[in-house]
Amino acid sequence: MKGIILAGGSGTRLHPLTLVLSKQLMPVYDKPMIYYPLSTLMWSGINEILIISTPKDLPIFKELLGDGEKYGCKFQYAEQESPNGLAEAFLIAEEFIDKEKVALILGDNIFYGTGLSTLLQQNNNPDGGIIYAYHVHDPQRYGVVEFDKNGKVVSIEEKPQKPKSNYVVPGIYFYDNSVVEKAKKIKPSERGELEITDINKAFLREDKLKVTVLDKGTAWLDTGTFNSLMQASQFVQLIEQRQGLKIGSIEEAAFKMGYINKRQFKDLIKPLLKSGYGKQLMRLLD
Ligand code: TTP
Repeated sequence: MKGIILAGGSGTRLHPLTLVLSKQLMPVYDKPMIYYPLSTLMWSGINEILIISTPKDLPIFKELLGDGEKYGCKFQYAEQESPNGLAEAFLIAEEFIDKEKVALILGDNIFYGTGLSTLLQQNNNPDGGIIYAYHVHDPQRYGVVEFDKNGKVVSIEEKPQKPKSNYVVPGIYFYDNSVVEKAKKIKPSERGELEITDINKAFLREDKLKVTVLDKGTAWLDTGTFNSLMQASQFVQLIEQRQGLKIGSIEEAAFKMGYINKRQFKDLIKPLLKSGYGKQLMRLLD
C-alpha cells in the first residue's frame, strides 16, 4: 500500500507564524510537525510515500526528508498549486498511486495511543474505504458521522451547523484504488474545495465504507491554532519526559518497523545526539 501526506494549505489560523513557512514545518516540541503524520504512516507499514505541499514549501520538505533512503523508505514529492481541498490529493497522486491501494494522512494531524500501530496495520488491504470516528466537543468544525442504533453509519456531513453526533472523522483515510476515479467525479463544494467527505459519501453509497470508533485512549491532536499547537507541544513534552520514550520519531519507526538495520539506525541518530533527541533513541539499542 502507498501513502500520501497532504502538507500544503494556507495556515491562515497561524498567521504570522506561517506567513513565510509551512505549518507542517512548525515545531511540535522537539521535531517538525510533519514527523508525526510521517511516522504514523511508517508505523502503519507504509514506506512508499508521496509528500504533497505548496510550490513554495516543497523544496524545504525535500531538504528535510530527502529521498527517504536513510529511513529505508521511498519519498516522492508533488506540488499542489493552491489549496483546492483534501480530495485533490488523489488527482495529484494519480500516477504515484498507479494500481495500488492508498492511505492519506493530513500533515497537521497527530495520533498517539496504545495499539494504534497494530490497528492501522490491519488496513493494508481495504475493499472500499476505511476511516475512523473520534468523539470531540466541537464537531461542527469537522466531517460529522451519524450512526444508527446498531452502530451502522447513516450519514457523513462536512462542517454541519447542527451536528447529528459528536463523532468526527480524523485526518487519516485508507482506500482501495477506486478512490482515484471517485475523486475525478466529485465537484467543488460551496467553499470551492474538493471535499474528502464527498469521497467518503461515495464509498458509503456503495456500502463500502468501514468506520471504526477510535476509543478515548487514543489521542488525536489538532495543531491548526496557536493554542492547539502549544497544547500538542506540551502533550508530547509531558509523555516524552515522563516515559523517556519518543512520540512521532521517524527514526524510531524506521528501525522498529525493520525498514533499516542497527548500523543504519546508528548513522541516522549520530547527528541528533547533541540535542538529546538522539540520546533518547539510543536506548532502543539496549
Ligand atoms: P486546514 O487546517 O483545513 O487548512 P490550512 O492548513 O490551510 O489552515 P487554515 O485553516 O489556518 O488556513 O487543512 C488541514 C490540513 O490539510 C493541513 O495539513 C493542510 C492540508 N491541506 C492541503 O494540503 N491542501 C488543501 O487544499 C487543504 C484544504 C488542506
